[in-house]
Amino acid sequence: MSGAPLSGWLAELRAVVGAAHVLTEPDVVAGYERDWTGRYQGRTSAIVRPADRGEVAALLRICSERRLAVVPQGGNTGLVGGSIAFDGAITLSLRRLDRVDEPNDRTATVRVGAGATLAAVHARCAAAGWRFPVDLAARDSATIGGMVATNAGGLHVMRWGAMRARTMGVEAVTIDGSLIDDMRGLMKDNTGYHWPSLLCGSEGTLAVVTGALLSVVPTESHRVVALVAFGSLDEALGTISSVRHSARSLSAIEVVLREPFQLVIDRFSLPKPFAGRTEVVVLFEASADESVIDELAEALSSLDAVVATDEVRARALWAYRERVTEAIATVGAAHKLDVTLPLDRLASFASAVRVLVAHDRPQAAVWLFGHAGDGTLHVNITGVADDDEAIDEAVLGLVAELGGSISAEHGIGRMKRAFLALNRSPAELRLYRAIKAAFDPQGLLNPGVLMPALDERTAP
Ligand code: FAD
Ligand code: MLT
Ligand code: ZN
Repeated sequence: MSGAPLSGWLAELRAVVGAAHVLTEPDVVAGYERDWTGRYQGRTSAIVRPADRGEVAALLRICSERRLAVVPQGGNTGLVGGSIAFDGAITLSLRRLDRVDEPNDRTATVRVGAGATLAAVHARCAAAGWRFPVDLAARDSATIGGMVATNAGGLHVMRWGAMRARTMGVEAVTIDGSLIDDMRGLMKDNTGYHWPSLLCGSEGTLAVVTGALLSVVPTESHRVVALVAFGSLDEALGTISSVRHSARSLSAIEVVLREPFQLVIDRFSLPKPFAGRTEVVVLFEASADESVIDELAEALSSLDAVVATDEVRARALWAYRERVTEAIATVGAAHKLDVTLPLDRLASFASAVRVLVAHDRPQAAVWLFGHAGDGTLHVNITGVADDDEAIDEAVLGLVAELGGSISAEHGIGRMKRAFLALNRSPAELRLYRAIKAAFDPQGLLNPGVLMPALDERTAP
């Protein structure tokens, strides 16, 4: 933090948002300083809660003038340690910017504030006959600003894309208080650099997102969900590729391997859907009109499947997949690695990663699950020290060797910044730093996140 007297900058921040929205009480602040996984514990000097973009701009101007580091925070559900302040930086909580407008029927878009939760956007769209098709289990807390900043993926990427595909417009404020107002939402706009694309995935390092224009899809009348048991991941992936050819309305293909599947059943006392030992479970979802029921039934006819065609039973089947994260959290603070691999290498990677972890850390547990439809595998490791970066490096090294990405959807954050060079060349990292410097020359916005420090192994 700067050498300015504490009361000086606090007084200035309070003058912008009102004293009630600058929080410094240790027990209140504590909830904003720890990340969702429990692996990262930060330290902040104050939580500041602006009400609108004007207040955001005024606050950032103060931070810029006084050289105060500032970390944007939404729902604090991020899984890479990127949403919490360290070394006394200010936490800028965007949750009060929670407006959700009526969806626009002509443009099939909805305008929302950065602090709106995903669940609030879903509800508003549903009430108007629309659907915002990005979805994830943290929907009640995750905010649109955080989802833009992380380019969140989730459960339906295979059909409707991740946040970058659905963010038609963005409104954001840079550290000097300047406004980027690109909310026209035109389908075609080739006037150079594209702000929504650039800010999606920028993890709060370039600008503070204050609003977004999201594209929505019409609500569908029917959805059908099926859980299918397999003897191995390889077998499951083979079937997935043939089901994809016969079922045209698939909206999710999720996979859970034996250990997390059993854990969810145990932790939440769920009924066992299959008799005997289940190595791999795949959840298929298809949605469209009524014909979708026969379509999926036919595609899965020769398989050991449990099928739900009504909402209550569909939700019950989703619980076996959606509650995995929550179940693992009860075991301990996990190292959460969200990787993508070419689909034809996913099964061999899954076997290799178990061997790799067991070799040096026999006490550790590996939990594998993910979004098979888009090649994402979540590798969660418990029973290792929070600061055991060597295990992260070994797993991510294997991913890169096999032609995968070290982050499918959660981002780089603090957790993976030292490993970015596994996927990005020295020339690319130089450009990253140049982009960062253009937006934030003093390095005040979310320092320590995404960008490797110059003295880390990624230095060119
Ligand atoms: P935060 O956690 O508050 O912040 C995340 C990052 O965004 C930080 O770097 C922060 O500085 C930045 N940020 C936040 N708000 C802004 C803003 N307004 N402007 C600029 N930067 C900002 N993620 C997936 O992709 N797919 C999943 O399926 C998925 N499932 C999840 C399930 C559970 C149970 C949990 C706990 C998390 C899951 N996540 C998933 C991760 C998480 O929900 C997403 O990363 C989400 O996008 C984070 O939103 P948030 O509002 O909580 O952001
Ligand atoms: C998921 O797919 O459930 C999420 O990305 C969260 C996680 O990785 O635990
Ligand atoms: Zn995921």
